[in-house]
Amino acid sequence: MCGIVGYVGSRQSLPVLLGGLKRLEYRGYDSAGVAVIDPEGRLRTAKRAGKLGVLEEELSTHPIADGVTGIGHTRWATHGGPTDGNAHPHLGDDGKLALIHNGIIENFAQLKEELEGQGVVFDSETDTEVAAKLLGVEYRRTGDLRTAFRNTVARLDGAFTLLAVHEDEPGVVVGARRNSPLVIGLGEGENFLGSDVAAFIEHTRRAVAIGQDQIVVITPDRVEVTDFAGDPVEVAPFEVQWDASAAEKGGWSSFMLKEITEDPDAVADTLRERLDGDDVVVPELAELGDDVLAQVDRIVVVAAGTAAYAGQVGSYAIESWARVPVDVQLAHEFRYRDPVVGPHTLVVSISQSGETMDTLMAVKHARELGARTLSICNTQGATIPRESDAALYTHAGPEVAVASTKAFVAQITALYLLGLHLARVKGTLDASARAAQVRELLAVPDKMRTVLGTHDRIAELAHWMADTRAVLFLGRHVGYPVALEGALKLKELAYIHAEGFAAGELKHGPIALIEPGLPVFVLVPSPRYSDEMHRKVVSNIQEIRARGARVIAIAEIGDVAVLPYADEVIPVPLAAPFFEPLLAVVPLQIFALELSSAKGLDVDQPRNLAKSVTVE
Ligand code: F6R
Repeated sequence: MCGIVGYVGSRQSLPVLLGGLKRLEYRGYDSAGVAVIDPEGRLRTAKRAGKLGVLEEELSTHPIADGVTGIGHTRWATHGGPTDGNAHPHLGDDGKLALIHNGIIENFAQLKEELEGQGVVFDSETDTEVAAKLLGVEYRRTGDLRTAFRNTVARLDGAFTLLAVHEDEPGVVVGARRNSPLVIGLGEGENFLGSDVAAFIEHTRRAVAIGQDQIVVITPDRVEVTDFAGDPVEVAPFEVQWDASAAEKGGWSSFMLKEITEDPDAVADTLRERLDGDDVVVPELAELGDDVLAQVDRIVVVAAGTAAYAGQVGSYAIESWARVPVDVQLAHEFRYRDPVVGPHTLVVSISQSGETMDTLMAVKHARELGARTLSICNTQGATIPRESDAALYTHAGPEVAVASTKAFVAQITALYLLGLHLARVKGTLDASARAAQVRELLAVPDKMRTVLGTHDRIAELAHWMADTRAVLFLGRHVGYPVALEGALKLKELAYIHAEGFAAGELKHGPIALIEPGLPVFVLVPSPRYSDEMHRKVVSNIQEIRARGARVIAIAEIGDVAVLPYADEVIPVPLAAPFFEPLLAVVPLQIFALELSSAKGLDVDQPRNLAKSVTVE
């Protein structure tokens, strides 16, 4: 939700800022803007509604003098529509300082009234401009940017990452964070700030994550981090484990296509160094302690969207292997339901970005209630893992497309590692049973590659269906959350009505939706593992076919029982039940991508969305 970048050094800042914004654009793409201090020490700004390309166009037709200090912003609108005027940066009232913001300033209305009472005039409808104007007033009062900035953040409630530059202090960028992310990139004779490491990965892989309620000041040669009171804070630099090329589209037509193709690697890399022969030993879980894990009597998964569906898939396996009840709760509901959480509850958060505000707040609440917290996260240096007792990183690599794909399969893999680790420490699954599951896990990446080979056929299907107004998805057992995920992908990418249902639920109401020609994807479980479940799903297919549905079955290669009843069959290799979701989701990801492309939509940046949802 909004991407932020800051730079001080010796190079021209505009290319650095625009390059950083390009990599952060997935965080928001309603408008974009930059501010630089030019060689004369004058503040120069440019901002435009629309995607970053519009700003780039503006800068090429109306160039601004560049300098070696600057800040840039790409916006996902909260207060005030996506207009030129509401785009960031916003200026102090004397036009000498520029400020950008990610988050929501909750007390902006009171502050605005107070400032207007002092004669300050506002140019936008944003909450952000209040911080800019307040900083201007404070700067005039104190004559010192650091003090003025400290005084300003002390007055703000809500969530914010702020960066500011001032004409009187060229060569300095100040930043602060509360409940929104901010990371420093450490260079040689230059330093960077960004919402995440993607902002500066092209220039440096050494980074420092800024903690909650901290202020940072960067100059070309120094980085100072303090708390909001101005007391120095120790920082711990880390090395980013991927390089710039991992976050580039390369020759792919979209990031999403590239990332779907990386599904097998996301699974394989997440398993790496967490297996000991054919058993699961996850070093990161040792931080919680095997004795503590052995006593866990309940798991609550908190997550949102796709990550929550990964949690639902994982819950079936963990319950079965470790005999621990697992509840999956939407993070934004968790806090408000007075949850029953005790010292033997393990609260597992799942988040690709590690910054989702709903999930972060759920984790904080769980800790207050005395639970142990484990973060399954894909982003180093992110807030949620730092706020948790332990972190189990998924190694999916940077996910840039707004719709989550490879992170989903990596999250399920991480949950399976947790389930098998727990089963070992609790003694609920013997060594040979655990080894059998590990063999299944290790076989997944190659099987996924086989499924990726069906891309053209799925693309053809999607292109025929470009005019479809609604699609249903049905699954049972672990196929149910996959059905929900298939529907979510289609809603967010193709903007059509899509619903996922538990196949058994259909006759309790939703079957009324079936009308002639309605496409229904059905996830068919393997007959070899569960003949009963397979028969039930085939009966469900017959019920909907009888009412005119057009059935697209995702079924095991060689499942002949399904052939007479399905209009289309997308074959997937045989896998034990818990591993079917990792294969069956791939065609659904491809279908959503291809239907979106067939409709001429932006696959990587669907409307109204942003990748990292840092507001509640
Ligand atoms: C859907 C999607 C979202 C995210 C959700 C949580 O394709 O990407 O539903 O899964 O916003 O995001 P993270 O995992 O970053 O917490």
